Amino acid sequence: MRFVGAVTSVLLASTACAASTSRYFNRQFSNSTGYQLQKGPLDTDWTSKVGTNPWPEYPRPRLARSNWKNLNGVWQYQNASAGEVASPPINRTLSESILVPFCIESALSGTVPLSPVPVSKLTISGIMRKWAIYSWYRTTFEVPSDWDASNRVYLNFGAVDYETTVWVNGKNATYHRGGYWEFGVDVTDYLHANGPNELIVWVYDPTDTGDNQIPLGKQSLAQDHIFYTPCSGIWQTVWLESAPADYISQLDISADMNGKVNVTVLNGGNSSVPVEVTVHKKDSTDVKATGKGTSGSTFQFTVDSPDLWSPDDPNLYNLTIKLGSDIVQSYTGFRTIEKGRVDGVLRFILNGEPIFPFGTLDQGFWPDGIYLAPTYEALTYDIKILKDIGYNMLRKHIKAEPPLFYYAADTMGLLLIQDMPSLRTRVPKPGDTCGDTIPVRDAAVQAEFDRQLEILIQQHRNYPSIFAWVIYNEGWGQPDQPPWADVRLTDVVRSLDPTRLIDSVTGWYDHGAGDFQDNHHYAQPQCGTPFYSINSSPFNPDEDRIGFQGEFGGNGNNVSIDHLWNDPWPLDHINQTYELDKDIETWNYRAHYILSELIDQVDRFACSGAVWTQTTDVEGEVNGMMTYDRRIIRAQYDQWNDDIDKLQDTFKGRTEKESSRMMPRADGWMGME
Ligand SMILES: *[C@@H]1O[C@H](CO)[C@@H](O)[C@H](O)[C@H]1NC(C)=O
Ligand SMILES: *[C@@H]1O[C@H](CO)[C@@H](O)[C@H](O)[C@H]1NC(C)=O
Ligand SMILES: *[C@@H]1O[C@H](CO)[C@@H](O)[C@H](O)[C@H]1NC(C)=O
Ligand SMILES: *[C@@H]1O[C@H](CO)[C@@H](O)[C@H](O)[C@H]1NC(C)=O
Ligand SMILES: *[C@@H]1O[C@H](CO)[C@@H](O)[C@H](O)[C@H]1NC(C)=O
Ligand SMILES: *[C@@H]1O[C@H](CO)[C@@H](O)[C@H](O)[C@H]1NC(C)=O
Ligand SMILES: *[C@@H]1O[C@H](CO)[C@@H](O)[C@H](O)[C@H]1NC(C)=O
Ligand SMILES: *[C@@H]1O[C@H](CO)[C@@H](O)[C@H](O)[C@H]1NC(C)=O
Ligand SMILES: *[C@@H]1O[C@H](CO)[C@@H](O)[C@H](O)[C@H]1NC(C)=O
Repeated sequence: MRFVGAVTSVLLASTACAASTSRYFNRQFSNSTGYQLQKGPLDTDWTSKVGTNPWPEYPRPRLARSNWKNLNGVWQYQNASAGEVASPPINRTLSESILVPFCIESALSGTVPLSPVPVSKLTISGIMRKWAIYSWYRTTFEVPSDWDASNRVYLNFGAVDYETTVWVNGKNATYHRGGYWEFGVDVTDYLHANGPNELIVWVYDPTDTGDNQIPLGKQSLAQDHIFYTPCSGIWQTVWLESAPADYISQLDISADMNGKVNVTVLNGGNSSVPVEVTVHKKDSTDVKATGKGTSGSTFQFTVDSPDLWSPDDPNLYNLTIKLGSDIVQSYTGFRTIEKGRVDGVLRFILNGEPIFPFGTLDQGFWPDGIYLAPTYEALTYDIKILKDIGYNMLRKHIKAEPPLFYYAADTMGLLLIQDMPSLRTRVPKPGDTCGDTIPVRDAAVQAEFDRQLEILIQQHRNYPSIFAWVIYNEGWGQPDQPPWADVRLTDVVRSLDPTRLIDSVTGWYDHGAGDFQDNHHYAQPQCGTPFYSINSSPFNPDEDRIGFQGEFGGNGNNVSIDHLWNDPWPLDHINQTYELDKDIETWNYRAHYILSELIDQVDRFACSGAVWTQTTDVEGEVNGMMTYDRRIIRAQYDQWNDDIDKLQDTFKGRTEKESSRMMPRADGWMGME
């Protein structure tokens, strides 16, 4: 969502905030683990089920090994300062504890609130918040004694926000930058022959302090209406696995509706060695096909008449990939995404049929885990609710999720648009929480954005559910001078993944790149229409790109305090909601009305897909299908099912008919308010 301009000051006296902070985070050491779940501003029904062995699932189904060990659990933790990176706390006990993999700011992490930060560091009045810039983590681990001693031991991190340095038994094992990406390292040479090994992790996460400008999406130290609590540190599973020295280090698979499979395998040694892939249905061990090739170059094979993947029928096939003595499991879905002209209008085509993707804007925030759902069950709950309402898609908004999220969408059947996490885009300042928007600071910031965009594509292009990539959201971090970065990066993304569509800019500064002509407009849609409101480019329908409503809806409904993020700052921003409806019935009535306009636009104009804001409430935003705690479902299923059926039927009527319908009807159309 776009942040609005001049906003009245809502800064609070720091004493009020200090009092409220201690109300949320009253720490008691309950037992020897030193871990105590904190009482945050809001919880969910899953919060109390997390325990101290969180996220026990194998974390990476797209490249799974059987010999693995989960390192999640209670680790030691300590806030730190910049220079300390030079002297890691080897053999020293840290003062706090933390539940890995929940980020430091989350109630589930169990860490206590940190002290306030000087105003000068924040460029906004220091309010007492729980956040961290420099942190130490420490734990010990043993390598399972039954692991093949001739194999290597790899240490993997699902994601750590933002920069990480890792020591194993006092040796600097690796460094990584980027808050959303998986990384791993061979730690065999650092391990002790017997006994526990010490693992120390240093994290630096500037978020939006000073003039730092990093990919961070919606995270901000100055939360307001549409920017939320940041996430720092480890926020996805940490695990060990056993694999040979010459191991599968990267696996790219794509499969289409004709049964064609492309496979690229990279191995640790970068040599050319034989690779074998066998394919079987998810529920059967009967081998459907075998592909053979070598590592380092793409090879192809065909599976005869596969059952295709679609959101309605999400058929998946399991793959077993062998490279020397390394054997991994993976999976794929056979489907083809294209654009194609149907009766004169450019449409999304899935497996040869026109499709109207209708989804929600999905922020992926949780009141208890912030960036990480409390459990896998909780994560799948959101997807189930969206499907029950009638959606076939979601737009993962300026955040990348753990691999198990994509696995859930692949398995349950939901199309995904995947956004690149945007660069920090504003300098918050007192009296104007939205602050001034800032351009990309320098070439180094841009180069790092480009580098991380490539990682996004590389680490996510195996998932059948993803059908489109977003490079820029609403101009955030998008350079405003030619040569246009959105045009250049569209070519980069296309070369990394020619099998999907590209939404180069969703909202605002459009330079004609990519496959979408994507407009944001609240609350009413203006989807593929010949009318657009001011400040909401593009103005001219582009018949050579797909007309798309990247965001609309967003009407809100306030609820009682026990379902709200009970933090005074976001609470005071609820009044920035585009529209507040008196009760849930009114909210549904308004949704019905807004959807009727969308349906009308599908009927009359070149509207080929749309994104409703949004899946859940988030902090000061109260416009979700569900409240932030997922305890109230606002959407009345019967009404939404009917409206979405009507939407899809209208689209089918358009795409199955011969006659051209691009002309506005003589009886006119709904005007703008
Ligand atoms: C320690 O406390 C945590 C949080 O209450 C609980 O989940 C865990 O089971 C306790 N551990 C032991 C060993 O009692
Ligand atoms: C840390 O402790 C281990 C095990 O006692 C010992 O081998 C190692 O030398 C110690 N490291 C340092 C830097 O003191
Ligand atoms: C963390 O520790 C450093 C160094 O002691 C201190 O300057 C800083 O204020 C602390 N940060 C927080 C958020 O408590
Ligand atoms: C750790 O090693 C990495 C190279 O992998 C290096 O870039 C980094 O500066 C080292 N960090 C420290 C604190 O020694
Ligand atoms: C496989 O690669 C070929 C050559 O690059 C490409 O034309 C084809 O579309 C790819 N197929 C799939 C399913 O990715
Ligand atoms: C393998 O190739 C990758 C990508 O080119 C490179 O980063 C890596 O260092 C290479 N590894 C070895 C062992 O040569
Ligand atoms: C297919 O893979 C899934 C994990 O992704 C596993 O649960 C299932 O058992 C596998 N099916 C077969 C037949 O091996
Ligand atoms: C929103 O509420 C805050 C806090 O009560 C108030 O300061 C501000 O003026 C209100 N803004 C609007 C647009 O009503
Ligand atoms: C929303 O409800 C909360 C709690 O009931 C209340 O504190 C807040 O002022 C309300 N905000 C608006 C804009 O209605």
